[in-house]
Amino acid sequence: MPLAVPANSPLVITPSHALNSSSSSGPLPVNISKKNLSQGLLFVSSSNCFVEGCDASILISSKPGSNTLAEKDALDNKDLRVEAFETISKAKALVESKCPGVVSCADILAIAARDYVHLAGGPYYQVKQGRWDGRISMASRVSSNIPRANSTVDQLLKLFGSKGLTQEDLVVLSGAHTIGFAHCQNFLSRLYDYRGTKQPDPAIDPRLLKALRMSCPKNGGNIDIVEPFDVTTPFLFDQAYYSNLAAKLGLLASDQALFSDPRTKPLVQGLANDKNKFFQAFAAAMEKMGSIGVKRGRKHGEKRKDCSVHMS
Ligand code: HEM
Repeated sequence: MPLAVPANSPLVITPSHALNSSSSSGPLPVNISKKNLSQGLLFVSSSNCFVEGCDASILISSKPGSNTLAEKDALDNKDLRVEAFETISKAKALVESKCPGVVSCADILAIAARDYVHLAGGPYYQVKQGRWDGRISMASRVSSNIPRANSTVDQLLKLFGSKGLTQEDLVVLSGAHTIGFAHCQNFLSRLYDYRGTKQPDPAIDPRLLKALRMSCPKNGGNIDIVEPFDVTTPFLFDQAYYSNLAAKLGLLASDQALFSDPRTKPLVQGLANDKNKFFQAFAAAMEKMGSIGVKRGRKHGEKRKDCSVHMS
């Protein structure tokens, strides 16, 4: 199925908007076309912000031979797509070649995620800039700070709350699952043994259950198989995620739980048939998420030349 995004739209990074920047040059059109922008960017961007804040700590590579792994090598981050890291690396190299030392990796990641959302049919929103890159990236900080496929609504609310995000932000940001894919292992227990019952999750539509079981057998399946979050419009950034939940078509337990929990259900219902409301709320929630733990200035951060390596 073709991607529902226009071809060759460039990623535009505007260093003149960067905080503490003396540069007044105009936008730098960095020609990263849609084929290099993957839904992985949005996932990497959110995983980045949940651990240490939006400071590009996720982009650091582990030092060869070191005992301490960097964030991106944490087991919980194994599903992040390599192409997303490559895109950021290319964008950074281009920006550095034209305007060295000005735009942080953290800003580039936030902008690239926004551009992906827009190219996939979602809202275009302003990305506040001026983030500095972080000096800490540790795999051991990941597991307690990211949401999980089988998290309950209570656990999600607690985690999001600890990042300054509300119940509404949880529901709205989960709408990012209108695009992208998940590996079988993230929903396998729903198909065969939901919460130890040896039965499938009753909140899965029987036809979807059948289809998912065919792709994802109980044992011995291909670990690389992925299934779309949004079975109706998998490549389009729209509000179908929410109507899918109402039709028992959610993929992860954490997605479907938003419809069964009385606290979040009305929010899901309110977004299901209102694209404008979802787009506005998503833009606002992305700005909020993009402000988590932002570092500013040399005292607290760095501006990396290569996003995968700390400055010193
Ligand atoms: C609410 C809690 C959340 C949970 C439990 C969760 C969990 C997951 C999981 C398990 C995957 C599948 C990874 C894989 O198997 O490859 C995934 C993918 C994804 N997530 Fe989330 N996520 C959450 C919130 C978010 C947020 C806040 C965003 C962005 C704003 C986001 C954007 C994405 C995207 C775009 C993908 C698809 C990535 C791809 O296709 O490569 N998620 N998420």
